[in-house]
This record gives sequence, structure tokens and C-alpha cells, in this order.
Amino acid sequence: MPPTSCPLWGLGHYPVGMPFNIEDIRARQILDSRGQPTVECEVRLSGGAVGRAAVPSGASTGEHEAVELRDDDKKRWLGKGVTRAVENVNAIIAPELIGADARTQESIDQLLCLIDGTENKSNLGANATLATSLAVAHAAAIATDQPLYRYVGGTHARTLPSPMLNILNGGKHADNTVDFQEFMIQPWGFSDFSEGLRAGVEIYHALKRVLHDRGLSTAVGDEGGFAPNLKTNEEALELIARAVETAGYDLGRQIFICLDPATSELANEATARGKKGYCFFKSDPKRIVGSDEMIRMWEQWCGRWPIRSIEDGLAEGDWDGWKSMTSLLGSKIQIVGDDLFVTNPEFLRRGIAEGCANAILIKVNQIGTLSETLDAVNIAHCAGYRAILSHRSGETEDCTIADLAVATNCGQIKTGAPCRSDRTAKYNQLLRIAEELGASATYGGSAPTNAKANSKAKTSSGVKSDAKNGAKVMTKSKSSAPKRVTSKS
Ligand code: PGA
Ligand code: ZN
Repeated sequence: MPPTSCPLWGLGHYPVGMPFNIEDIRARQILDSRGQPTVECEVRLSGGAVGRAAVPSGASTGEHEAVELRDDDKKRWLGKGVTRAVENVNAIIAPELIGADARTQESIDQLLCLIDGTENKSNLGANATLATSLAVAHAAAIATDQPLYRYVGGTHARTLPSPMLNILNGGKHADNTVDFQEFMIQPWGFSDFSEGLRAGVEIYHALKRVLHDRGLSTAVGDEGGFAPNLKTNEEALELIARAVETAGYDLGRQIFICLDPATSELANEATARGKKGYCFFKSDPKRIVGSDEMIRMWEQWCGRWPIRSIEDGLAEGDWDGWKSMTSLLGSKIQIVGDDLFVTNPEFLRRGIAEGCANAILIKVNQIGTLSETLDAVNIAHCAGYRAILSHRSGETEDCTIADLAVATNCGQIKTGAPCRSDRTAKYNQLLRIAEELGASATYGGSAPTNAKANSKAKTSSGVKSDAKNGAKVMTKSKSSAPKRVTSKS
């Protein structure tokens, strides 16, 4: 069976001898899932192995993310072309890396940082450095005849992540009345990845029926989740609860809610109106509240709903607010820093020192090389923080993050709804990896959740549940219900 590192494109050549030297690097402009240009790179090694990677792109980007270099030529591609970044790979990076041993990823990534010479990759563009860095890793994996997850993570890389499926979209990802960006469901306590994914898929389709029956739109947003106009943000949770129940699962026992309200956008909207705070820019633009009120709202929501994780519940600059929110809710739920940390070891270290968040979202293009991405995961894990591999709202068919989720054993992945090929590509790659690992696979979502905040939260049927005891009831529900399995590790 060929290695799974380059599953969609079939570019793997199977070398003999010592075929690891970089012989050619070539970048090109391609399109992402929103129809915007992005960078793709191919790296060819002396033995014939060819690795390919494409770069994703965010819409609600953190202020301190590494720079995505765009042409800004308004006459072409609405200014979004990436030909300068492509040229930087072909004319500047390639001559420096030709001849290098592709297995020396760390040195290659250090060299990319050195050639760029800036803190935020603004010189070459993080899209140029990331495309190269990931393509080198793919090529080395193929040349060493290993799937990418094993090449990067070694023999112990075998944890399939629990998916956080973004089934209802709002914020900057949809043209609807919902202020908050992502309403996700996370299956927890299922036997393996494919069973967890099945639950998510069944609930996704049930949500479509629920929306349709209520006369709400079933059109989807950027990440494949539905994007109806709703009267309130909280109505999204009611609809999801109904969908979970319709699909035959128990909310608060088998299925938990994860939120990414992406509140840096709400803060930006307040700033744009000359105010400080968080502006509900889609539902009620006159409503601008402070971080205390936001924290109170999250606390109330956690009391009403089985919420397991909140990402960017406060804005990127609100470090004091993050500290308060973490001390209030951090022992009960997962509090994830996305814009706050931007996959950057420096920001993550500050958060750890100041007691902000207890988890980090990992996005490869926020930092711009594979090695720095892995550094961020390691720092998080050493500090007892969780790490979640994540896509961007603008994606391609590239599914490197699926392999990286397994490589890092991080146990969770955020890669949108189970809808649209740019999203399902990642889920499909995880299914392939699960098949390849077979009985040696472990699953990040097989353990009982520790979501205590919602221990008295309302379930879909209106009955109070005890989320802490989720493990005891996991065998309930459908005939094909998930069984609690002990970790195989
Ligand atoms: P983005 O959204 O890719 O548009 O930044 C994803 C997220 O905020 O997690
Ligand atoms: Zn986010």
C-alpha cells in the first residue's frame, strides 16, 4: 500500500539509495475554497520523491499572525494575488535550499526564518515559507517511505483526534445575523474516530432537517456549517440541541458544544465605532459590552448548556479579561487561545505565565514553518495546556493538518463541518490513517470529558444531566451506540 502522505495527488515516487537532497523547489499560485489565490509548493528530491503542500488563509485573523504576503494589485485578483510570495519561493528560497537534506526539517525551517529576517515573516511572506516548509516535510516522508504523521511524529504517533465539527456558522464566515463565528459539536466517549465522526455527520444532517422544518436557510458558510438568520446567538444552541436529539444522541453525555465566537472581531467592530468593548455587530450593532459582561455571559451559557470548550471568548488584546475568565471557568471547561496566541511560542509563554487559557489552537499559517508549529504544541503540552490542530476558513484540498494532529498526539482537531471537499479532505485523511494504524490506533475522544461547568446544564430533552458522569452513560442511546473503550496505549 502506498504511503498516505500525499493521498490526493498520487505524487509519490519511491526512491532507492540515498535520495534525500533537495533538487528542485517550485511554487505556483492556486485557488483556495473561497476562490482566493494562495501558494502551493512542490519540492523534488534527488531520489525522485515529490512533496506538495498548499497554504490556507484566515478571515478572522489575529493581529500578530505571521504575514500573508499578497500582491495588493487592485487590478488583478482584487489585490489578493500571491505572485510575489510565489516569486519569493522560486527566486529567493529555492536557490538557498537546493542541495539540502530534506530530513533536516529543523535546520531548513531555521534557514527560512533567517532568510526572511523579520519577526513576522513579512519579508518573504509566511505563505511562501509555510508552503516550502510543509512541502519539504512531505517530500522527506515519501523519500523515507513513511506516511507524514509517522515521519513527523515517530512510532508513537497514533492518536486519532476527536473532531470539533463547526455545524453552524456566523461572524465573518457567513452573511447572516449571528455574531459568533462557530458553533461546534464534539463527540466524546466514542470507541474510535470513525464512530465519533459518524455521530457528528448524523447530527449535521439532522440539523439541516431541523432548519428546513422551521423555514430557516440551509445554505452553508465558509466552513461548511449552516448559516441561517437567527433571532439571537443562543438560538443556535437550541437548534443544535434539537438536532442532537433528533439524531438520537445525548447532549451533555455523548455530544458536547464547543464555541469559537471569535470575539476579536466584535472588539474590532467596537473600535471601528470609536468605542471600547465588544460590539454585537450583526444582531444589534448598538449593543457594546465590556469584558466582564462577556465573561458573565459565558458563565451563564455554561450553566445552561453542556459546553466543553470556548475559543477566543475574549479578544486578543484583553489579557486581563483572559486571566479572569480562566480563573473563573478554566477548571471546568477548555479555554482556547487562537488570536491570543497565534501559534506563536512567545505569546503562548506569556499566556502560560499569566494564567490565560488552558489550551492553544494550532494553525500552521499563523506562524509559517512546520518546526515552529511543533514547538508551539510542545510548549503547550509541557505546560499542561491542550493543543488543537486547526484548519483556516479558507482551505484547499491539502490535508497536512490531519497528519499533524496524529503526529502530535494532540487528541483534537478543528476542521469545519463534514461538508465541502476542503473540509472533508481532512476527515477523509484521518479515516485513511485510522485504517492504516488499525488496532494500534488510540482515539482522543474515547475518554470521558472533564466538562464540569455544564454538570447541571440542560440537555436536548430539557432534562438535567451530569456531564461529569458522562462516562457512566456512554453506552446509552442508539443501538449502534458508542461503547466506552479503554485506551489501547
Ligand atoms: P479563520 O477562522 O480561519 O477565518 O481565522 C478560524 C478560527 O477563528 O478559528
Ligand atoms: Zn478561532
